[in-house]
Parts: sequence; C-alpha cells; structure tokens
Amino acid sequence: MKPLSHKFSNIFSDSKNNIFTKSISKEQSFFDEKVVREGNDFFREWDPNRSKIAAALKKGLSQLGIKEGQNVLYLGAAHGYTPSFVSDIVGQNGFVFGVEFSPEVARDLVFLSEKRTNIAPIVADANHPEEYKDRVLNIDVIFQDISQKNQVEIFLKNCDYFLKEGCFGLLAIKARSIDVSKKPKILFKEVREKLEKHITIVDYRELDPFEKDHAFFVCKKR
Ligand SMILES: C[S@@+](CC[C@H](N)C(=O)[O-])C[C@H]1O[C@@H](n2cnc3c(N)ncnc32)[C@H](O)[C@@H]1O
Repeated sequence: MKPLSHKFSNIFSDSKNNIFTKSISKEQSFFDEKVVREGNDFFREWDPNRSKIAAALKKGLSQLGIKEGQNVLYLGAAHGYTPSFVSDIVGQNGFVFGVEFSPEVARDLVFLSEKRTNIAPIVADANHPEEYKDRVLNIDVIFQDISQKNQVEIFLKNCDYFLKEGCFGLLAIKARSIDVSKKPKILFKEVREKLEKHITIVDYRELDPFEKDHAFFVCKKR
C-alpha cells in the first residue's frame, strides 16, 4: 500500500488505484468493506460509490484538509460509513463529532462509536449549531453531507459558528435536493457564487460517475 499523496494524511492506494485508509481498529470490517493486511497494519477499502469524500479523491481532489490529530465536525453522519474512514484519517489523537438528526439512523452510529472511540454521535439538527455547540470541542474541519434544500445555508451557518480563520470546510452538494428542475451544472454555479460571498473555494469536483448530480467544494474560512 502506498500513500495516495503526501497531501493526504493516512489515505493510501493500491496498484489499481483503489483507495484505503489505515484502520485505527484491529476489528476487521464494519461495513463489509475489503480489508487488506500488511504486517501489523490493516487497510480498509473506501468505496467511492458510497462516500462523497472517496468519490472526490477518485476525481483527483488536490487537498482534503483533514489530517491526523484533528477534530472534525461531521454533519449528516448517517449510519457511519464515511465517518468511520474519517475516524481512521484523524486517528486516535483526533476526533469525529458526528451530527445526525434521525435517531433511528444514529443508533448505528452509537454502535460504531463503541468500537471506534474517536467518534462521538450527536443526535441534533444541523440547522441549529447552538444546540450542539457545548457537545463539540476545538473544531479544525467541517464536512457536510446533508441532502436538504437549504444545505448551503446550513453549511455556512456551521462554518460561521465553529471554524477559525484558515480552517477547511468541505461541502458535498446534492443538486436534486436543492432544485430537481434545475440543471445540476447551473445549480453548482449558483452554489459557488453563494459560497464565495462568505468563504474561499480552493478546490471543486463534480462527482459523477460515482455520485450522479453531486459536487464537492473544498473551502477555507477567511
Ligand atoms: C446522504 S446521508 C449521509 C451519508 C454519510 N455522510 C456517509 O457518507 O456515510 C445524509 C444524512 O443527513 C441526515 N440529515 C438530513 N438533514 C439533517 C439535518 N438538518 N441535521 C442533521 N442531519 C441531517 C439524514 O438523516 C441522512 O442520514
């Protein structure tokens, strides 16, 4: 397994360009993902068809902004698939605060956090950061994957609330949740214009063919 690039902490690739993270857990797979062992290390394969971050990496993202030891605020944590890989990236000295508003879905996240002690599930609505501000600590990066009409506003509100100057905010956009009738390309342009009023965009990828009508923005707080 070789590092994907020096820019990506704890992310690796094999000879076929499949993406892996080095697992922090000796427990094998959590989501039926393939696990490769090299010596004492275990590498978990990250499916770009199941994760917008993995799709963005496959599309050649130049920087991710999530590094070992960081605290990540993860909005839209769902059952924990992508959060489990983010938990590998930040490692035992970092932390993933996973916000999910469906209690039924968050139950799986609770089970995951019992195995991965650097994940804290938070059942809350990401529209209201004031409700979970006391349950998170020193946020270095925000990642959001929420398919709601007001996903851009939710992201900007959380960036305003938690991010320090120069820190990364990562946003996965699902065009159809914002407006089904609009062409995704036009919508992505409008999202860009809206974001640029508040934050600096440093990378952008459209996620097809892995995630149809989705885009990924890498932003920096200014
Ligand atoms: C596309 S899924 C996330 C998948 C996950 N990021 C992954 O890759 O494993 C979106 C999740 O966001 C949650 N969600 C939607 N609106 C939300 C809100 N306002 N606050 C918190 N979570 C929300 C949904 O319940 C759903 O589980």
